[in-house]
Amino acid sequence: MYSIDIISTGLALPSRTVTNDDLAQIEETSNEWIEKRTGIKERKFTGEDESANVLAIRAARQALENSGISLEKIGLVLVATLSGDYSTPSVASQMQEVLGLPKDIPYLDVNAACSGAAYALEMARAYLVANQDNEKPYAIVTGVEELSKLLDPDDRTTNILFGDGAGSVVMTIKEGSCASVLGAESSLAINCFGAKNSRSLNTPDAAHQPSYIRMDGKEVFRFAVRIVPYCINETLKKAGLSTDDIDFFICHQANKRIIDHVVKSMKLDAEKFYCNVDHIGNTSGASIFICLAEMEEKGILKSGQRLLLTGFGSGLTWGSVIAEYRSRQ
Ligand code: UT7
Repeated sequence: MYSIDIISTGLALPSRTVTNDDLAQIEETSNEWIEKRTGIKERKFTGEDESANVLAIRAARQALENSGISLEKIGLVLVATLSGDYSTPSVASQMQEVLGLPKDIPYLDVNAACSGAAYALEMARAYLVANQDNEKPYAIVTGVEELSKLLDPDDRTTNILFGDGAGSVVMTIKEGSCASVLGAESSLAINCFGAKNSRSLNTPDAAHQPSYIRMDGKEVFRFAVRIVPYCINETLKKAGLSTDDIDFFICHQANKRIIDHVVKSMKLDAEKFYCNVDHIGNTSGASIFICLAEMEEKGILKSGQRLLLTGFGSGLTWGSVIAEYRSRQ
């Protein structure tokens, strides 16, 4: 068995901080309501000259620099996102030239929404296992979102939750216990119309619909508190590990109440759950990568620690992977 070894991280947060009070000035909400229901105090929104692609490239460049790995050793570039600058080309492909990466490797965006980190890391692990003879044993895996551009200014049930940002890791594989749980059940409980619903040559009379995120918050909450314990338990079972073998549980940062619920229902140590939703908000496919990068930056991550990463979100999708942090510096 080959497990995921995270050897470095990178972080790119937008310049604009939007507090709950800022939102309360433009819609009927309050700092108290948002903080009590979600744990969020502020989030970052892209400012001038910032976009999903810009943030993703910044985070990936930092992860690469921190890794000390030479560019020709990179065998795969994946980006977990639902909000890249273009529907096509992918964010990943736009990294090739600007980061000076090899042309003879795959570049791909993974859209598994808030499960993006688990999906992309497991895809990268499997790809590196299958291509061990090509002397390119490292992957850059990045999560980025610019959700501010998908928020309906008139929908206070969603626009208070989401934020923008990017995190990135350079990873490789090593022999060791590994396991993942990935899945989906069809639902529109969180959705965002794509180009299909816009006016097109096929449907010239269709009304143009802006692409806004819509969410049935209560349904998603119920799903989350059911699926996260399932993901954690199943992943540990598959790996033959127990909760004591995990140094940190890093869950998708959707809402502090969901994480608190999981900690309580599973009787786990809250100290082992890293949480940054208070100042980052919900950044979907980027959230777990941003946690990892913050933890490395703050010196919380120590080489050799075992992490269990769990995402859940639109699809509805879910996913958990076990990874180790093994800094080469
Ligand atoms: O990564 C994606 C995953 N997404 C999630 O994990 C979201 C999971 N769901 C949630 O986090 C919660 O459902 C929310 C935080 C989104 C909403 O909390 P809730 O406890 O489910 O609130 P609600 O939608 O039932 O609304 C309760 C009340 C309503 O008023 P009435 O009908 O009781 O008078 C809403 O109109 O709160 C009102 N409300 C607000 N009030 C102030 C809804 N949004 C707001 C707001 N500010 N922003």
